[in-house]
Amino acid sequence: MVAEAIDVSLEESRSALAGGGLDIDAAEKLVENVIGTYGLPFAVATNFRINGADVLIPMVIEEPSVVAASSKAALMVREGGGFSVEVDDPRMIGQIQVFVDDRDNARRGILDAAPRLMELAARTDETLVEIGGGPTEIEVREVRGDGNGDGFLVVHLVVDVRDAMGANTVNTMSEAVSPLLEEITGGRIGLRILSNLADRRRVKVSADIPAAALAIDGFSDDAVLDGIVSASRFAELDPYRAATHNKGVMNGTDAVILATGNDWRAVEAGAHAFAARDGTYRPLCVWRRSDGGALSGFLDMPMAVGMVGGATRLHPAARLAIRIIGSSGVSGLAAAAGVAGMANNLAALRALATEGIQRGHMRLHSRSRMLER
Ligand code: MEV
Repeated sequence: MVAEAIDVSLEESRSALAGGGLDIDAAEKLVENVIGTYGLPFAVATNFRINGADVLIPMVIEEPSVVAASSKAALMVREGGGFSVEVDDPRMIGQIQVFVDDRDNARRGILDAAPRLMELAARTDETLVEIGGGPTEIEVREVRGDGNGDGFLVVHLVVDVRDAMGANTVNTMSEAVSPLLEEITGGRIGLRILSNLADRRRVKVSADIPAAALAIDGFSDDAVLDGIVSASRFAELDPYRAATHNKGVMNGTDAVILATGNDWRAVEAGAHAFAARDGTYRPLCVWRRSDGGALSGFLDMPMAVGMVGGATRLHPAARLAIRIIGSSGVSGLAAAAGVAGMANNLAALRALATEGIQRGHMRLHSRSRMLER
């Protein structure tokens, strides 16, 4: 069925997934000292409608009920027209640390030289520039330190990395501009590395769900809706709860990141740093009652994903996962990871606010396994 929906032959999809999708030769191209490969379930979540199009979502995860819960929540969202998603241009930030005494003067020098610095960075990846990407901006931030003279400047080199996750590109560019930065500032260069707080590259998801679509035995539709809004407020007001709330979001998001061969540590690091951006750890997805009496959800988080490097290219199952999501490119991939996060959060809060997670999720798990038989 999945093979038909994505126009892949059954044989092709079977061979992409055989043996966990990765043979020893491919594994050795990825990392060092390989002694085997390690399998995880590869599943497909259904019912997702994203910006008016139906999308199947591949998930790799070991936790029971995440796939069933996502699919069920996606069906509820579908009742209200589906997920609306905006994905930022794929801009990543390279950080170059500069130790210099006269920071004001150094800052002015760096900003005056911004076109030269960007030109130098662009020369390291002319192909990227040809396809419409490349450096877009130079920013200078001052980190003051604790008053013992340990402050410094941080230069942010913002790069549109197109279809890549961008770590390699940005790291190469950050190193390439450093000698010129040293010359301009007369300072000393410290670290040169990408920032995983990818806040220029976010996915924003919204959804309106009619109360009737949330129905659950023994509870009025309005009670379920109010319970979800109250659970959202709990996470907004208490970091202990926000951590668990966001773990539910990441259940869905990470499963897509892993299926598509992307760097889930990078997405995790970005998500949690973003969640704590104003000094308090907060939920990545919040829920409200809309004026029309529906449940409105909003998710906003960094999503640094690519489809051209590393495992996304070398892992046959990751390539299949990217095909399952469809032809919408890297922004479609970011959208899929975002909606999977929101769907999981909705399913978890609906269960928690009513019959409890154990009963609801375990029932979903056994039901979906029976369906497979
Ligand atoms: C379990 O993997 C995830 C949940 O704890 C998320 C939540 O509490 O919102 C159910």
